Amino acid sequence: MTVHSPPEVTEKNNLDFPEFLEKKLQACDDELFKPRKNGKPLVIGSVTPGAGAIMLQSNDYLNIASHPFIREAQLKVLQKAGNEPVMSAVFLHEGSDKYFFEQEMAEFAGFESSILCQSGWAANVGLIQVIADQSTPIYIDFFTHMSLWEGVKISGATPYAFRHNDPVHLERLINERGQGIILLDSLYSTNGDIAPLVDIIDIANRYDCISVVDESHSLGTHGLHGAGLVASLGLTDKVHFITASLAKAFAGRAGIIICSNKFARYYPYMAFPAIFSSALLSYEIAGLRATLEVIKKDDFRRIKLEENAEFFRDGLRRLGYNISSQSQVVALEGGLESDTELLRDALEERGVFGSVFMSPATPKTRSLMRFSVHSGLEKSELQKVLDVCAVIRDEIGMWNWKSTRRKKSE
Ligand SMILES: Cc1ncc(COP(=O)(O)O)c(C=O)c1O
Repeated sequence: MTVHSPPEVTEKNNLDFPEFLEKKLQACDDELFKPRKNGKPLVIGSVTPGAGAIMLQSNDYLNIASHPFIREAQLKVLQKAGNEPVMSAVFLHEGSDKYFFEQEMAEFAGFESSILCQSGWAANVGLIQVIADQSTPIYIDFFTHMSLWEGVKISGATPYAFRHNDPVHLERLINERGQGIILLDSLYSTNGDIAPLVDIIDIANRYDCISVVDESHSLGTHGLHGAGLVASLGLTDKVHFITASLAKAFAGRAGIIICSNKFARYYPYMAFPAIFSSALLSYEIAGLRATLEVIKKDDFRRIKLEENAEFFRDGLRRLGYNISSQSQVVALEGGLESDTELLRDALEERGVFGSVFMSPATPKTRSLMRFSVHSGLEKSELQKVLDVCAVIRDEIGMWNWKSTRRKKSE
């Protein structure tokens, strides 16, 4: 075989794009970069977190990302001799590490089976692609995660959005359109409120609809030993599918679909993310198996998380902020992007870092700063954040935010 040496590269690739792409990039510049004081998108601040900064951005709610037991489990596999196959999960047999983890996750949630996916995004998109087609009405809570909306788009089905957490509206839509699939999050990732699961699943069963509950923000944190909200409400045998990102309480890079044996048998051969995208590597799966053990055992982390979240929500409410959260996900809704920018800067200048959510994650006029509370935080740190939130109220115009006025008029 002759190996030709490539010509020497004198200039780095900087090819011009045709106008249709240039236009799109320009629109991003005009809408996201230029309106901001620092010339960066709103989600990026101007301050780099220094020593002593309080970080409320990570979704590692149980504070286990660097747990030695989990690290050791990963290292053991990494240090094992030999190459591992790098390929789609569709080629894996029973008896693989993936298979054992799937069995453990199914048992954890009280289901027959589960399917390990590369991410929560892949899980949701793959699932909806498989279960829906153009003829299936999809009833979807307006605030359901974008990955489920994307699955609907890919399936070609028509989405009928019901008002957030409004079972009455859902039932009205089903009466109009007929049997279909209901999609919702158990705990909403923008403002931390919890779905009326009992009512919605009751409707799903009465109308013989399929139900899909995304438990990304409640699996591991809620329910007995972290088994999730569906389990804690006694709904396990009434829900068809639970999905979750394992990049939240599980602090990994994966997703899961929890389901029946029957469905799990078909999924790998029907879902495009399972067929056309490679499986997780074995050290990642070893890490997830160890993580599940920690999650089941360490009730103290859930107790501390709940205490921290309650302390923080109550403190913010006492300061006059309109907090709709019922969980560890707590948001301050600046509303207009210019108000959220002011809020972000005021917090970051004082060493408090959260995550800005804006369009397309929220409606354009309901941008917000999300704080993810975790179990490793001390009350003194949360109190420091509360003190900052107290001091900045006038400077950021909190009293005039739409969300504040909404609360007053309730
Ligand atoms: C509710 C919900 N579902 C799905 C996902 C996607 O998960 P992943 O980051 O693992 O792709 C997320 C992550 O943002 C989420 O919050």
